[in-house]
Amino acid sequence: MKQHFIYIVTFLFILSGCTSSKPTEVKSPDGQIRLAFVLDDNHRMSYRVDVNDTAFIASSSLGFLAKDGVNLSEGFRIVSTDFLSADENWTQPWGENKTIRNHYNEMAVHLADTTNTKLVLRFRVFDDGIGFRYEYEVAGADSILITDELTAFNIAQDGTSWSIPANYDTYELLYRTQPISKIDNANTPMTFKTGNTYASIHEAALTDFPEMTLKNVGDCQFKSELAPWPDGIKARMAGNSFKTPWRTLQIAPEAVGLINSGLILNLNEPCALEITDWIRPMKYVGVWWGMHLGVESWVINDRHGATTENAKRYIDFAANNNIEAVMFEGWNEGWENWGGNQSFDYTKPYADFDIKEIARYAKEKGIEIIGHHETGGNIANYEKQLDNAYRWYADLGVHSVKTGYAGGLPDGHSHHGQFNVRHYRKVVQTAAKYHTTLDVHEPIKDTGIRRTYPNMMTREGARGMEWNAWSEGNPPEHHVMLPFTRLLGGPMDYTPGIFDILYERAKKNPNRKQWNMKDSKDCRINTTLAKQIANWVILYSPLQMAADMIENYEGHPAFQFFRDYDADCDWSQALAGEPGEFVAIVRKAKDKYFLGAATNEMARTIDIKLDFLEKGKSYKAIIYADTKEADWETNPTAYEIIEKQVTADDTLTVAMARGGGQAISFIPI
Ligand code: NOJ
Ligand code: CA
Repeated sequence: MKQHFIYIVTFLFILSGCTSSKPTEVKSPDGQIRLAFVLDDNHRMSYRVDVNDTAFIASSSLGFLAKDGVNLSEGFRIVSTDFLSADENWTQPWGENKTIRNHYNEMAVHLADTTNTKLVLRFRVFDDGIGFRYEYEVAGADSILITDELTAFNIAQDGTSWSIPANYDTYELLYRTQPISKIDNANTPMTFKTGNTYASIHEAALTDFPEMTLKNVGDCQFKSELAPWPDGIKARMAGNSFKTPWRTLQIAPEAVGLINSGLILNLNEPCALEITDWIRPMKYVGVWWGMHLGVESWVINDRHGATTENAKRYIDFAANNNIEAVMFEGWNEGWENWGGNQSFDYTKPYADFDIKEIARYAKEKGIEIIGHHETGGNIANYEKQLDNAYRWYADLGVHSVKTGYAGGLPDGHSHHGQFNVRHYRKVVQTAAKYHTTLDVHEPIKDTGIRRTYPNMMTREGARGMEWNAWSEGNPPEHHVMLPFTRLLGGPMDYTPGIFDILYERAKKNPNRKQWNMKDSKDCRINTTLAKQIANWVILYSPLQMAADMIENYEGHPAFQFFRDYDADCDWSQALAGEPGEFVAIVRKAKDKYFLGAATNEMARTIDIKLDFLEKGKSYKAIIYADTKEADWETNPTAYEIIEKQVTADDTLTVAMARGGGQAISFIPI
């Protein structure tokens, strides 16, 4: 995580005491993106963005409103403007790409009002987009209550968009493809295309602030709407100064350019942990899907999933199949209160889960345990036990925990407000203290804080696999939407890889108890089997789960892909794709490459040049493909495994069925 600055140039323009209706501008290093800040004669602040000399974001307002006469938006004058350029490579302990180039031009506009309240508007323009944030110092204030954010994104032209609705409690919603002008409100990342340019609005480094959502206030004009506290205040800042998260706009000439962008991570602070060698990506299986299918239960009874016997069966499977970890849900007391008073106990295992023996057995077999803390949204109950719970797990050798917030928050708090953003961060810091990595379900959205806290490895924050167990499920387009939207923020624990696509085994199980939900009777997985395998590559997670019950993997030839897969990748590239239509992504881990391609409900054939392979080397390509007869609706499990010898000079024709996909491992010969 060493910083290597190649050059830094600073100019200082003193425009002391005057307003300027002339724009103050900064361009991307390649000159294609230009951002202008304008302070008009009425002292109103705005910015605009041009791409290739064409208006992309038209004049859009800036600033905040606050209570008690605190001024955060009006009457500012420019004091000075600094320009700076940076070009550095930095490395991270894990990630889609371990080395990232951070190359930008910065313009910091220093403003002040007549009471000496100061504001620095820091704009950074990269070749792959822009980011800006507010740094306030309010004269005479000892605390600040923010009531509204005025930041706008006035998209200059209508076009197509891909987003989920704004919601302060959940991101587990289906994506909509619609004209930008038809969006009512949206959560970020909100992805869109106007003309030939793709872009996505999001935020980076969300720290001690509520999340930003977007509200359409006219045509294609979007305004920030912050998740409020129960009393309507948006953010409570102690003291007289604060910095906001970065407001970001990733920009690319091709849709895959958004996936290949490092902008969100570049706008986060460097690693705050001194030692990171205890953090490592892992593949895992878990006692999990059986509960969602209703053949096992979280609560202790005759269907209990997390028993000592079952735990050992999963550990044995992991040890025999080159899988590093096993996760157990429903192991601790409190599940009987889930949906009730949500009082889980994080140090009391159920009587039939002998955690000491299980930890001993896992260690003997060289398998890590991923623990589980469901909170049901009872933050107070969790925080009361937090330190002790992580210490207790660490003493048992458990250094990775999945958390969950399935349930409403008390006292009218929302999941995505500042109150809970603080809570999520506290958990990350507590886990780090005990050298514990995290996989957060029902999380705050990913804004790249994994750069600062690499133990914050993965999270849910979108409709994951579980929805296929008890609802109409995720449609085929969902998995080719996620990489262009949700995953722009960071990794996702989607929990892919279900092989019993139609739940044939589960349906035969006499112990199965159906969820009492509208669609739970006809539910199934809405993809082909080959696409389930491709999703292990496409839906990036450094903790990657093979989510099915292990009996559905035992003896299955296609499970070889997951045995070969290496979750610790060094380099990735999205090769081709369009949001909601298809995608092809390749990742390199040590000397192996893994490729995943997937399509929506349309059958599709794409040609993939293998020029990403090392030149002069031969590889065995093991291809997991839909057969000609495969179709997600009528014949989802028709797959074949084909082996070929290939080099970097070859092109592969990847044929995908309706709702299908293809996964390929490239192993050097
Ligand atoms: C919702 C999570 O997304 C899921 O993975 C988990 O099994 C349940 N909550 C219970 O904690
Ligand atoms: Ca969930």
